[in-house]
Amino acid sequence: MTQETKYETLRRALVEIIDSRMAPHDPLPSERELMQQYGVSRMTVRQAVEGLVRDGRVYRIQGSGTFVTERGKITKSLTFSSFTEDIRARRMTPGSKLLLLEVQPAEIDVARDLFLEPGSPVVHVRRLRTADSEPMCLENAWVPEEFAAALARGRDVDSLYDVLEAAGAAPEHADQIISATVVNREQAELLGVPNNFPALRVSRVTHDARGRAVERAISLYRADRYDYRVSIARSR
Ligand code: GLP
Repeated sequence: MTQETKYETLRRALVEIIDSRMAPHDPLPSERELMQQYGVSRMTVRQAVEGLVRDGRVYRIQGSGTFVTERGKITKSLTFSSFTEDIRARRMTPGSKLLLLEVQPAEIDVARDLFLEPGSPVVHVRRLRTADSEPMCLENAWVPEEFAAALARGRDVDSLYDVLEAAGAAPEHADQIISATVVNREQAELLGVPNNFPALRVSRVTHDARGRAVERAISLYRADRYDYRVSIARSR
């Protein structure tokens, strides 16, 4: 039997507390309280809470905290895909041009999202993504260093998700923010559009089935070529 990690132990303990003592919409204790109570690091707390969010057991409200989900409301409504799958579904041929593949010290926000200490080594993958050979998206992804060798073997890293899946870390759940932006001069040149051209910015933090953060990525899509499509059910 593989040994349970600290985060798995904490996650199990939190599920027990939620089931036995908490009501829907009750707030979870703060990160600091959980760190003190269980003698674990902030990273372990974040990873455990992320696991609960992924399972739909708790939900987050930005700036307010994390709350217990109402039982009947646990849904997994939206799905996500890789660039490769997404472009194929649009009946175009995906492509990838590797611009950078480098191990770097993690900046604060990358470290936070990947549950690492700032300055820990991470792999930065920068790619220009094409659809039918035309630039579609400029993608920066940071992944934990343990995948460096697998990525280096993946030649041009045609599909990051294929590499992660082959390494036993298949993307399962993601938190995503979509916003509108304009491209700067360097991005414009790579994407083949004028400076200040509009773009869709998709920021994604992706986790595997064990709740490990496996990717933090920012994708800039050309607004003239890409639209974001979702199938949604009415909430009642
Ligand atoms: C989308 C996501 C990225 C992810 C990429 C993986 O574009 N926004 O966060 O890195 O898919 O796609 P692929 O497996 O084709 O490299």
